[in-house]
Amino acid sequence: MTATLITNIGELTTNVERDGDPTGLLRDAAVLVEGSRIAWVGPAADAPAVVSHTTTLGTPTTGETSPVHRDSGHRRQSRGADAVSREDDGGATRVVDAGGRAVIPGFVDSHTHLVFGGDRADEFEARMTGTPYAAGGIRRTVAATRAASDEELRIRLAGFVAELHDQGTTTFEVKTGYGLSVHDEARLARLAAEVTPEVTFLGAHVVPSDYAERRDEYVDLVVGEMLRACAPHSRWIDVFCERGAFAADESRRILAAGVAHGLLPRVHGNQLGPGDGVRLAVAAGAASVDHCTYLDDADVAALAGSDTVATLLPGVEFSTRQPYPDARRLIDAGVTVALASDCNPGSSFTSSMPLMIALAVREMGMTPAEAVWAATAGGARALRRDDVGVIEPGRRADLVLLGAPTRVHLAYRPGVPLIDRVFKDGVARA
Ligand code: NIG
Ligand code: FE
Repeated sequence: MTATLITNIGELTTNVERDGDPTGLLRDAAVLVEGSRIAWVGPAADAPAVVSHTTTLGTPTTGETSPVHRDSGHRRQSRGADAVSREDDGGATRVVDAGGRAVIPGFVDSHTHLVFGGDRADEFEARMTGTPYAAGGIRRTVAATRAASDEELRIRLAGFVAELHDQGTTTFEVKTGYGLSVHDEARLARLAAEVTPEVTFLGAHVVPSDYAERRDEYVDLVVGEMLRACAPHSRWIDVFCERGAFAADESRRILAAGVAHGLLPRVHGNQLGPGDGVRLAVAAGAASVDHCTYLDDADVAALAGSDTVATLLPGVEFSTRQPYPDARRLIDAGVTVALASDCNPGSSFTSSMPLMIALAVREMGMTPAEAVWAATAGGARALRRDDVGVIEPGRRADLVLLGAPTRVHLAYRPGVPLIDRVFKDGVARA
């Protein structure tokens, strides 16, 4: 089994609550990875003794950067800041010297729409000069997606997956929703399932143009043949409960049908205006209700008394010029908040979780610590996953080494590529 000791970590966000800190911040820390899992976490000075080669990654960003030296009696080749990578010599533990930089869990992006054809840059351009966002734009992407071959969609999706990984996202959800026919929804679900276990069936994204005068028939299709075709590839059922998309009674019916097919519910709600989405999601026991831009006190109270996560998607407000959701109000009320990208060609064409953190801190009243938690452990809660989002023994070794001494830099240096190295299931890729 391959093993890696990441040591000399200036600041480690574990998300294991400690002394009242939900992010469980440790300083001068180390993490031992064995195979795909985390084996040990603690102070660097107490790290397990290893037979090793040392790899120093890049140029450290803090003053005090000399690698940890311990008199373990083992062969240890600690090198200075100019050390070069060395190959693992088989059986030995590779030591990665973090050079005093920060390590956080890999981002968990619990809301994306990554299987689609075309783009809608023209809509974005028009919005920036005053045209409002409307859910109907989805139908343009449906036309472009239906026209794309499986191979074209697969290649595009692979590009997005690489893009996510390079930005530190190690777990992600993908929705269908740009097919809106039995054939096309099923192929989007199948393609999504090739890249993630977190596939969401979103046949109820909007009523497609070909059913414009027959919306009841479309809902029948979604809860019938379309659901049967998509459920084998999906873990989740979602509905866009919003004016211009699906009403509360339709949404309830769609979620219930998905649950009856073994899928778990999640909801798009309260994005474009006040509505029933949040309360409906809570009543359905949804893992998450996403957007939450327009909430009244009853919505906040319902969320606070539930296990439903409020997933905030600030890329949407950035790209649509809507007001940002009030994360502070939710957190102060005791609601669990996650951050996700909602990467899609209409309302938020970015896959950058660091950008979501920067927006949440700058515009939504979150502290950097809260925002990093929401983008990691929060996303894991929104996907009901307990193997990711947290750095502790037994969890998946999904880690991000930042090119910065603290996680605050994710908001403090917006737009700067701060993802130095990503470990996914214990495997490092630059
Ligand atoms: O999450 N809200 C519904 N769906 C997407 C928008 C999709 C689109 O405009 O293409 C969202 O924002
Ligand atoms: Fe969405």
